[in-house]
Order: sequence, then structure tokens, then C-alpha cells
Amino acid sequence: MRNIRIGLLGCGTVGEEFAGLLLERRSAIEDVAGISLELVRVAVRDPGKPRSVALDPAVFTTNAYDVVKAEDVDLVVELIGGTSPAGELVTAALNAGKPVVTANKELVASAGPDLFAAADRAGVDLFFEAAAVAAVPLLRPVRESLLAEDVTRVAGIVNGTTNYMLTRMTADGLGFEEALAKAQELGYAEPDASADVEGADAASKIAILASLAFNRSVVADDVSREGITGLLAEDFELAARFGFDIKLLAVAERFTGPPDARGTIGAQVFPALISRDHPLASVRESFNAVFVTTSAAGELMFYGHGAGPRPSASAILGDVVGAAEHLARGTHRRVPVGRPAALRPT
Ligand code: HSE
Repeated sequence: MRNIRIGLLGCGTVGEEFAGLLLERRSAIEDVAGISLELVRVAVRDPGKPRSVALDPAVFTTNAYDVVKAEDVDLVVELIGGTSPAGELVTAALNAGKPVVTANKELVASAGPDLFAAADRAGVDLFFEAAAVAAVPLLRPVRESLLAEDVTRVAGIVNGTTNYMLTRMTADGLGFEEALAKAQELGYAEPDASADVEGADAASKIAILASLAFNRSVVADDVSREGITGLLAEDFELAARFGFDIKLLAVAERFTGPPDARGTIGAQVFPALISRDHPLASVRESFNAVFVTTSAAGELMFYGHGAGPRPSASAILGDVVGAAEHLARGTHRRVPVGRPAALRPT
């Protein structure tokens, strides 16, 4: 059985969950995929910090480049977050011919085209399922199962923190600050929660989805956005009175007409009134749901846990198994580097 040696960059809450899930699922993965996974190096700031998962102290290093360049690391998992040094480390790993799995939406949504090109040049996998809608398999279906499809629209709820907050504000009448504190307690929010409540997190996710769905380079800055910070108590009262819920929507569309707009892409994040009989109204708590509209398959709905350390760890581990299988067979899945999108003003 092929043994794939993993180097992990960052071991915070999600990293610990990933390491724990790897140990928990290891023998099942051996049975199902015929691959053995071993965590051999872990780059952290503080190797002495108490952790929820029992790892051999010998795996820790404080130098992330030790992990990326190590001959005994076959595959790199990046869970540091942010664009730098994560971007330099991911690029170094890809250039060294190592497949990379990352959960870093900020990085993929800003430097995606460069990273996709680096992965393509090196002929290795770059997987990032956990970067959008966490545990819900969505990016791989769009990249693989729908590869031959003409996708025209991707739309839905892609931020668990704001969906949780809006649920609590609607159902329990909680104020903004109280709802945010609860979302933070539950581990849904970003380290800087303004990224959630101001729509930047959702903008990164819809940019990533649009890039894959439309094969065009769409970055977070291309997405117009409005978060939930401007909502007032009266907005919730009025919405309820007329049978609506308020949801933070992320929408990306490729326009098919009229002729002057054909092929242009519009992407935006905004709070919307959703009729209570629409399926998106039943997406509550930290759940996410995304509709993908295609020419042949019609409308598909993807639903599940979009936030939280364990759902994220599930997506990361799924990617690791996929990349390890490719590595064992000497293949990889190309991420297309689309031309820059012609953007439609929103
Ligand atoms: N802060 C993010 C969210 C985490 O609430 O959706 C998962 O990407």
C-alpha cells in the first residue's frame, strides 16, 4: 500500500480537527482508497502549546519552509490562512512538485489564477474544497462532474456566521452584537469577524465558485458587496410581517443576452428578502445552500454545514485523499486558468 507523507502548515482549531480526523479515519481510508496517510511534519508558531490531538512532539517545527521543502513530505496541507506567508509557501510547495490542499479562501480568491498556473506548470493537484461552503462537496462537482456543462448561475447562502446570526435575530429577536458573540463562541466566525458581517468572506467564496463555474478569472475584488451591518430591527419586523426572511445572498451570473452583455459576468453579495416558501428560507443556523444552474442538468442544490472546524476538516481530509490517490497514480486534476472575466457592473 502506498504511504503518503503529509506536511501540515498551521495547527490551530481547524488544523487540530484535521489531524484528529485523519487519525480517526486512517484505517477506513486505507480500506476504501488503498492509501496510507501519515502526518510527518507540522509547522506551528508554538510547538509546546497544549493541543486537543496527541501528536508525536518530533513532528513539530517552527520553520514552515522545513515542511514545504522536506524530502519526506509528499503532500502539503496549508491551514495558516491569510495571503502571506501562506501564498509564498503554497507556491514554493507547488514549485517543488508537491500537491497542495488548502482551506484558504482569501488566498485562492485573490491569488487563485497565479496558483492555478503554478500547479498546472508543476503538474500537481491544488485542491481547496474547504475554501467555499466547507463540508459540502461543491467545488469538486463543479470542477469535475459539471466540467462539460454550461453553468450560467451560482447563487445561495455561503457564509455560516451571518446565516446563524440572521437566524437568531429573526427567531429569537437577538441583537447584532449578541448574535455575533454566539457565532464566535461556536467557532463559525473568521478571526476578524468583519470579514463575515461585511460580506468579504462571502465575496471570496463566490469569486472562487464563479472562477470554476465559468472558467474565467474572478477575484474577490471583482465582487460588489454589502454585508448585514446596516440592517435595522425594523427591517426584521417588516420582513416578518410580509412573510419574508432576510438572508445574505451571494450570486454570480454569466449573462447570455442581450448581445451587449453576452458572456459578461456579474458577482455580488447582498442581504435579500426571501419568501418563506422559497427553499433558501429553510436554510437556517450555520447551514449553507447553493443553487447551480446549468444548461443540461438544470438546477442543482447543494446544502450542508458551511462553517465550523469539523465540517472544514472533513472537506480538507476529502481533498487529501483525492490528491493522495492522484499522487499514487501519477495523475492530477488541472485547475483551468480562465481569461480575466468581462465584468458586468452591478
Ligand atoms: N467564517 C466562515 C463562515 C467560516 O462563517 O462561513 C467558513 O468559511
